[in-house]
Amino acid sequence: TYVIAEPCVDVLDKACIDECPVDCIYEGDRMLYIHPDECVDCGACEPVCPVEAIYYEDDVPDDWANYTKANADFFDKLGSPGGASKVGKTSDDPQWIKDLPPQGE
Ligand code: F3S
Ligand code: F3S
Repeated sequence: TYVIAEPCVDVLDKACIDECPVDCIYEGDRMLYIHPDECVDCGACEPVCPVEAIYYEDDVPDDWANYTKANADFFDKLGSPGGASKVGKTSDDPQWIKDLPPQGE
């Protein structure tokens, strides 16, 4: 899977959404999250993110390793809906992400 990391927090550019052929990039309050089981590793989202927030799972910088878990934990409640557009925005961000200080200001 691919993983969205810290640079997305409070930016939520969403350019990535338009690229994903399987609609597996879901919106939370603070950032977006890639569904680890629905992502088909096409990699189309990675180059379009203007803040370079997206990484292949093996390439996530060590400082942001906990975002790999966050991209999975976001779906504890949602499960595998099979499409982000029909789900829309939810407030299922992991608590530690909710608690992050405002970013990028
Ligand atoms: Fe976030 Fe980059 Fe997508 S900022 S919403 S990962 S384009
Ligand atoms: Fe979609 Fe990016 Fe995965 S475009 S299929 S989330 S690599």
